[in-house]
Amino acid sequence: MFKKIMVPVDGSVTSWKALEKAKALAELCHGDLVVAHVVLTYSNAELYVQEAGGDILDVERTTMKKLGTHVLDTAKSKMEGFSGKVEYVMEVGQPASQILNLAEKHEVTDIVIGCRGLGGIEEFLLGSVSSKVAQHAKVPVLIVK
Ligand SMILES: Nc1ncnc2c1ncn2[C@@H]1O[C@H](COP(=O)(O)OP(=O)(O)O)[C@@H](O)[C@H]1O
Ligand SMILES: [Mg+2]
Repeated sequence: MFKKIMVPVDGSVTSWKALEKAKALAELCHGDLVVAHVVLTYSNAELYVQEAGGDILDVERTTMKKLGTHVLDTAKSKMEGFSGKVEYVMEVGQPASQILNLAEKHEVTDIVIGCRGLGGIEEFLLGSVSSKVAQHAKVPVLIVK
């Protein structure tokens, strides 16, 4: 158990709590970590800018990837002192399906994910990404509040 934990992070406070929990579990179990960030695409906006010309689309994607790199750099700084192996992975697309793909690709044993993220509609206990991941993952999922 907890041999290779995937922790998806979106830069929200709750996702950093999930990272801390995953780090502690990995330390306890001598496991490794896969820290994942999915860069969002805005499909409607993308269709619109495709009409306007590819340059704008490239600028949009470059900006989003820069933000993604920033999230993973923050994660790296929070992992200081961790003795196991950590991989940092970034994908572009729909967060839940990319997280599920990455979990299979990296053969993780568990997923530790925040209950809420950047979207933040307070009355919901679970965000759409965490609920989809919990429903469809083939490995145990720990949801951090
Ligand atoms: N783009 C993303 N990349 C990686 N992890 C994500 C992403 N979006 C959400 N997550 C993970 O899912 C958790 C819950 O977020 P989410 O379901 O999107 O809730 P909300 O609707 O409040 O944004 C986050 O704490 C984070 O662990
Ligand atoms: Mg969200």
